[in-house]
Amino acid sequence: MSDTMYKRHDGSDIFMHWFNAVCWLLLLLTGIGLIQNPVIDPLGSGYPAVLRSLVGGGGNLLLLHEALGILWIIGFLVYLIINFKGARFFLAEVFAISPARDMLWMVKKMVLMTLGPKPLKMLGMDPVLPDQGYYNMGQKAFAQASVVGGVVIAVTGVVMFLSDRTFGAAATGMIGWAVTLHFITVGLVFAGLLVHIYMAAISPEERPGFKSMFTGVVPGEYAKHHHRLWFDKVQSDDQQVSE
Ligand code: HEM
Repeated sequence: MSDTMYKRHDGSDIFMHWFNAVCWLLLLLTGIGLIQNPVIDPLGSGYPAVLRSLVGGGGNLLLLHEALGILWIIGFLVYLIINFKGARFFLAEVFAISPARDMLWMVKKMVLMTLGPKPLKMLGMDPVLPDQGYYNMGQKAFAQASVVGGVVIAVTGVVMFLSDRTFGAAATGMIGWAVTLHFITVGLVFAGLLVHIYMAAISPEERPGFKSMFTGVVPGEYAKHHHRLWFDKVQSDDQQVSE
């Protein structure tokens, strides 16, 4: 049993995840460089100045940021065409919530990670986490934020891109909203991203999940312990790939 591997991600899903991660990194680096306001500049004014001088000025940095954003959007559109089935499966899993089970999982997980099992036992609660499906509630919460946030960031980005080229003065109000929403949404998704990177790549108990983002498969023991409902569903069918 412990050596049995179960398929978790397709090649195109893995490619898309890392494509998205690289785009996010480059968009953040170039986007932060575009902020040249000593009051809100998150990395101090030295960083935007260095970055601007590296690419030949603020105009070029904006062009680079816009080109990366358009590449990011095109990448997702191509993925939707190539693997619409995979995208539909992902969205269905991510937005399927079982309130009682998933909220209890979330509360227990947060208590266990911060205070340990004692407070739960003192309240007469079983510290064992409720079974989870393909994604646990923490993964679903971040995935929902990154999907909704991604759409908001892309749409507001396109509005800002067009504002420089086609929109007239009448669109000033809409552009103001686009700028504000773009900033706030990037900030919110970024906050979730810090937790995501810790949980997915640093936390030792999730190591098999991290490896699966390269190999596409997870060991049966991990699947059974972390994603029991999914494990029960697939263990007898063809997703089992090796003994
Ligand atoms: C260094 C950066 C990153 C690392 C190391 C990382 C790692 C991972 C891993 C290991 C998984 C697989 C979890 C599993 O299926 O068991 C995953 C899934 C996922 N990642 Fe990332 N990721 C990174 C960046 C990002 C970024 C930038 C986003 C989007 C803004 C993102 C969005 C997602 C989503 C939506 C999932 C599926 C749901 C979830 O597992 O949370 N990731 N990531």
